[in-house]
Amino acid sequence: MPSAPQLTARPAGRPLTGTVRAPGDKSISHRSMIFGAMATGVTEVEGLLEGDDILATARAAEAFGATVERLGEGRWRVTGQGGLKTPASVIDCGNAGTGVRLLMGAAAGYPVTATFDGDASLRKRPMKRVTGPLTEMGARFDWAAEEDRLPVTVQGGDLKGIDYLQTVASAQIKSAILLAGLNASGETVITEPEKSRDHTERMLRAFGAEVGVEPVGEGWKITLNGGQALTGTTVSVPGDPSSAAFPLAAGLIVPGSSVTVEGVMLNPLRTGLFDTWIEMGADLTIANERESGGERIGDVTARHSALKGIVVPESRAASMIDEYPILAATAAFAEGATVMRGVGEMRVKESDRISLMVNGLRACGVRVEEEAEGFIVAGGPVKGGATVATAHDHRIAMSHLVLGLAAEQPVSVLDPEMIATSFPGFVEMMSRLGAEIAG
Ligand code: S3P
Repeated sequence: MPSAPQLTARPAGRPLTGTVRAPGDKSISHRSMIFGAMATGVTEVEGLLEGDDILATARAAEAFGATVERLGEGRWRVTGQGGLKTPASVIDCGNAGTGVRLLMGAAAGYPVTATFDGDASLRKRPMKRVTGPLTEMGARFDWAAEEDRLPVTVQGGDLKGIDYLQTVASAQIKSAILLAGLNASGETVITEPEKSRDHTERMLRAFGAEVGVEPVGEGWKITLNGGQALTGTTVSVPGDPSSAAFPLAAGLIVPGSSVTVEGVMLNPLRTGLFDTWIEMGADLTIANERESGGERIGDVTARHSALKGIVVPESRAASMIDEYPILAATAAFAEGATVMRGVGEMRVKESDRISLMVNGLRACGVRVEEEAEGFIVAGGPVKGGATVATAHDHRIAMSHLVLGLAAEQPVSVLDPEMIATSFPGFVEMMSRLGAEIAG
């Protein structure tokens, strides 16, 4: 029987050093394709993340009537028709929750019928959090198999703006409603309990729309008038802090290392992990801070550090929700316990990330306590020497591979192919820094 695909990270045994460039931000890359398709005229994108998730969204943009061309590495042109058309076939969003949820919101605003589907992991993820508010606005959804799960067919058009109070801080929900609200009658108002990433609000403005934002408690209230058209523009995609986290984590835990990742986006709604690492005692420095494409970016250097466990403030969860797996991997090397609570949303990502991290870390000899909405990682010697299940989740795979670089024994991960959804070239980049990760 052929053996299952896997990758193995071997203890580095020597410092990791060097300077690399972060791949393009996944959130902004998805949005550039979707906004480009909705807009009138040409959108030129540079620095696009050419990961599988984004390629699925690019194909969806084409299926909805836009012309999508690849001009060179990371350079893409989207020519929009000023609206979306009914696609000829099912829109397959692959593994991408952001892709499908934002596209459902965008499609709901136009008089189109479109069926959305995804891979086995995406078919397990809840969709009503987005279709619920879109239904309130007037869109209709037909579930093919099971309510709340893909595949689903949307019939859009004739929407009315809503006043929506979000119960979870989720940029995906907020963005889907805003994209639908662009083509709804009247005003759409969203109140978020806590601030979530604001790339949609920023990009709406860059494409010529007006969006009002005012602080309310810990969150904010966002207001958008319907009937606003988007005009194509240029988008410069900054480096993804969620991807930069992996080489930087390796720099922190492999003795003697110094790793620099250039061009990392420093939007404060995305840098919760960096704040947390610094509180844990990490030698993490930012140089060459500058503006690029409407975002602050900088070059981030991580040097090997004696980390200490902390209680991560729950209010920080939204600004680092995708980073808890790699935080947990680094926490395994800290002195004392790292407490991560208020992160129930981790259970509905590409996998149940709490459960997968708990099992993976335990298999590597780390003491971990699991809670319903969180987990606690006790620092100490990390044995490794395990083969870890990833449930085809890119961040679970990369987190355990980074752990393996500083463990006593090699760590293998099963089904690592999904790394290509967000970080194509991960293995090659880590090798350039001196890491040994191979199949
Ligand atoms: C994203 C929002 C987050 C994040 C995802 C990307 C986005 O999801 O986990 O990887 O681009 O808006 P939620 O909004 O559901 O928390």
